[in-house]
Amino acid sequence: TYVVTENCIRCKYMDCVEVCPVDCFYAGENMLVINPDECIDCGVCEPECPAEAIFPDSDDRAGAWAETNTTYAKTWPNITRKGVAPADADEWKDKPDKGPLFSP
Ligand code: SF4
Ligand code: F3S
Repeated sequence: TYVVTENCIRCKYMDCVEVCPVDCFYAGENMLVINPDECIDCGVCEPECPAEAIFPDSDDRAGAWAETNTTYAKTWPNITRKGVAPADADEWKDKPDKGPLFSP
């Protein structure tokens, strides 16, 4: 499966949603997650993310976020259409260590 990581936090561009063939993204307040049971590992979302937030779970950069994706894909609502990114998304892009800003 692929995993959305902390680079998504407060960026939430949603370009990933547009390209996913199986609509397996779920939306939290300030980031998205992927449902590992639905992701078909096609990989098309990875290069589409402007924040480089998506990695395969085999990548070290996915790390503990794999568990976060599994957990919150169960309760957050499914998202199938790209919405409007936060107005300050570009300011948060490339900021390191956004993990503590995660909002369940
Ligand atoms: Fe969707 Fe493919 Fe990305 Fe999985 S790898 S979340 S199926 S676009
Ligand atoms: Fe997040 Fe990147 Fe998608 S910032 S919402 S994973 S396009």
